Amino acid sequence: MQPTEILVTSPTSKYPILIGDGLLKSLPALLEERKLTGKVAIVTNETLAPLYGEPLVQALGAKAVLVKMPDGEQYKTLDTVRALYDDFIAAGLDRRSVIVALGGGVVGDTVGFAAATYLRGVALVQIPTSLLAMVDSSVGGKVGVDLPQGKNLIGAFKQPEMVIVDPTVLDTLPDDEWRCGVAEIVKAGLIRDTALLDASLYRRGAIDYIVRAIAFKVNIVQEDPYEDNIRAYLNLGHTFAHALERVSNYGWKHGEAVAVGLLAAAQLSQVHGLCDPSLPFRVEQLLKTLKLPTRYRGYSAAELRAAMGTDKKRQANRIRFVLLRAPGDPVLVSDVPDSKVLSVLDSLRE
Ligand SMILES: NC(=O)c1ccc[n+]([C@@H]2O[C@H](COP(=O)([O-])OP(=O)(O)OC[C@H]3O[C@@H](n4cnc5c(N)ncnc54)[C@H](O)[C@@H]3O)[C@@H](O)[C@H]2O)c1
Ligand SMILES: [Zn+2]
Repeated sequence: MQPTEILVTSPTSKYPILIGDGLLKSLPALLEERKLTGKVAIVTNETLAPLYGEPLVQALGAKAVLVKMPDGEQYKTLDTVRALYDDFIAAGLDRRSVIVALGGGVVGDTVGFAAATYLRGVALVQIPTSLLAMVDSSVGGKVGVDLPQGKNLIGAFKQPEMVIVDPTVLDTLPDDEWRCGVAEIVKAGLIRDTALLDASLYRRGAIDYIVRAIAFKVNIVQEDPYEDNIRAYLNLGHTFAHALERVSNYGWKHGEAVAVGLLAAAQLSQVHGLCDPSLPFRVEQLLKTLKLPTRYRGYSAAELRAAMGTDKKRQANRIRFVLLRAPGDPVLVSDVPDSKVLSVLDSLRE
């Protein structure tokens, strides 16, 4: 079967996102087609190397090497990037070489940053393996690493030569990780593509929701490649989510925090008079059907409100919220009184 192809036009390049079951096996042919004939480094983590990395290196033969980094957000660091440079040099990678980032968002961001900077930039192919990486982090060209002072503080824009999405790899993705990706797709449904608000789409083995979610992100990114305006809508639910992640010292998974954050945004939209109660009701029902969390516990509303105060995306002294007038109709609002924020946070506390 022919893969689905979504073409991305960025300010600096044009590249395809290819989506199809079993597509991983076509990597050698796809590299050939795009004249990427140099050495290939398949860069992945310890978990994914035996599952997908080693078979790919075998399929590519003598021109390919396997490079591994440890698994986990705590390794999305400059130290890891430094170790990758060492491996690239040891493997003899030159300007004609291709770096393939095979993994979830952590691998994509870290390896993408290494590819953007090694020899001032070499060709990058993204093969996202988590649902979140397929629909979110591999689209848009943002790569980078964390600092002890905060997440994603170091980075670059690096457009890949292509992105290869093979949904069959999701078979091995843990359930909670899959649901985290679903939360980001529900966000896409609330921002624009309301067809994504149908719970029956979300089946393992299905492909439609992935294609739609990728198309959504591609459209937003193309309309606003450098995050000047509408890309801010992608922050829906995230002001709250980042606060919850921060107060829990990252004990909350990002996607699960986003789920509660989406409900918080919907409730705040109602409290602020932008929408009627059917919207938060619908969001809550959908999240519950998808087995995503809708409440938090263990922290006070005031603690969470304080943690929102240090959001990277905050402008001047006011928090700028992404709120909703209706599903698919977002709006940026920066005059929400604290009392309303606190009352919503309080109502979501278990
Ligand atoms: N660059 C961007 O625009 C952007 C956007 C959103 C998120 N991000 C970043 O993405 C990261 C989160 O990505 P994530 O949610 O993919 O986390 P992750 O990369 O840590 O992957 C989650 C876990 O799933 C495992 N895994 C991935 N694919 C698998 C598969 N097919 N089978 C079995 N296990 C698999 C990973 O090894 C890991 O243990 C964060 O660092 C975040 O900052 C970046
Ligand atoms: Zn997110």
